[in-house]
Amino acid sequence: MARRRQLYEGKAKILFEGPEPGTLVQYFKDDATAFNAQKKGTITGKGVLNNRISEFLMQRIAEIGVPTHFIRRLNMREQLIREVEIIPIEVVVRNIAAGSLSTRLGIAEGTRLPRSIIEYYYKNDALGDPMVAEEHVAAFGWASAQDMDDIVHMTLRINDFLTGLFLGVGISLVDFKVEFGRLWEGEEMRIVLADEISPDNCRLWDTKTNEKMDKDRFRRDLGKVEEAYQEVAMRLGILPEAGARDLKGPEVMQ
Ligand code: TMP
Repeated sequence: MARRRQLYEGKAKILFEGPEPGTLVQYFKDDATAFNAQKKGTITGKGVLNNRISEFLMQRIAEIGVPTHFIRRLNMREQLIREVEIIPIEVVVRNIAAGSLSTRLGIAEGTRLPRSIIEYYYKNDALGDPMVAEEHVAAFGWASAQDMDDIVHMTLRINDFLTGLFLGVGISLVDFKVEFGRLWEGEEMRIVLADEISPDNCRLWDTKTNEKMDKDRFRRDLGKVEEAYQEVAMRLGILPEAGARDLKGPEVMQ
């Protein structure tokens, strides 16, 4: 197989040059990190599951009219995506208090918030992705007022939609993180959903037992991490054909 040019390696994914201009191949690794990569590990089969889960969620989100970078899944660990210019902001939506919000404001985990809250974090590993206000985003030119309008509008629609989708399979969407990118089509630019949506960047709790079914199992050493990701895929009806047996998938080709 021809060697492909690797463009970027992140903590959980690798981006390769795509087969046509304007496309990229997104490869999902089993690597997991937490606390700005101070904690490192592997979650066997995570890449295969997140590839599937993100494919499924991006397709459903596109169906409600929110544009995404996703084109199609290529194999167990790879998907073809549109090349976008990533906006350097992590957009976090919270429905129920947990994680850093609970720590920062002293609100017990599990407290339902009076309304959904959107927060912004500046994507910068060296700084540990600090929280920023919309004022910083505007002042430093990371995104325009129009971009931010689009981002907030799309994020709220995604939250409403995913909350219902997960509730239907017995899962509470506690919070999640999304990223957006600028897609250029000639002179025209539009903002699209990028990156991934998976148990790596959502908090998902079983509605009956409140059991955690996401990366907090890894962050907090709760055990049964692989099983939790599999359970999410199973409830969404998208476990790979071979089932839980076949989660290793092909090795990365370079
Ligand atoms: P937090 O409570 O740690 O701020 O996390 C909020 C949500 O954002 C949670 O669903 C996990 C997700 N998240 C990421 O996807 N990447 C990150 O680097 C962090 C810190 C959180």
